[in-house]
Amino acid sequence: MEGLRGWLNLSGLIVSIPHKETMARLVDDLDETAAHSMSVNAVRRHPDGRLVGAMFDGTGFVAGLRAQGHEVAARKVTLVGAGGAGHAIGFALARAGVARLHVVNRTRERGERLAASVAEGTGLVDVRSVDAPSPDDDIVVNATSLGLKPDDPLPFTVDG
Ligand SMILES: NC(=O)c1ccc[n+]([C@@H]2O[C@H](COP(=O)([O-])OP(=O)(O)OC[C@H]3O[C@@H](n4cnc5c(N)ncnc54)[C@H](OP(=O)(O)O)[C@@H]3O)[C@@H](O)[C@H]2O)c1
Repeated sequence: MEGLRGWLNLSGLIVSIPHKETMARLVDDLDETAAHSMSVNAVRRHPDGRLVGAMFDGTGFVAGLRAQGHEVAARKVTLVGAGGAGHAIGFALARAGVARLHVVNRTRERGERLAASVAEGTGLVDVRSVDAPSPDDDIVVNATSLGLKPDDPLPFTVDG
């Protein structure tokens, strides 16, 4: 990273697993999207060599949903998974104006921490940790590691 600082023709770089958390400690500054999660997936190199980290995993997810015709503003959403991806998506959903956000996680305390962090960081009032998705959800997001392999089960049921 010290070497990249001096590359005059470098505008930035994309960071992938497993370097996202490490990168958050190597850059000079973090924007708001990266500061909450202490995780970075894009670095901009400024002309003076300063490196600033951002996290687009969550905003990218919301943009993808919108591109497929699924608006999240004013919707009731349950987020399943509170790891790195869940963290980024939870903040992005809250900032995109969901009506309420429920967080479900296998390790309950981690889900509770994410819900509290989203509430504090975004001001979303109706956000809490729950046991499972509910029938009145408009959107349920799978942000767990399940789904990476073709024969993985979903971490929740999708019928009724
Ligand atoms: N931009 C992108 O496309 C992008 C970016 C980042 C990640 N991802 C993908 O998102 C997925 C999650 O990544 P991550 O970085 O968030 O991983 P992570 O930080 O390790 O978190 C994993 C999450 O999955 C849950 N989980 C794992 N196994 C489970 C099981 N058998 N049943 C229920 N829950 C389970 C964990 O629950 P516990 O807390 O209980 O362990 C945790 O909430 C990966 O498939 C990754 O490739 C995609």
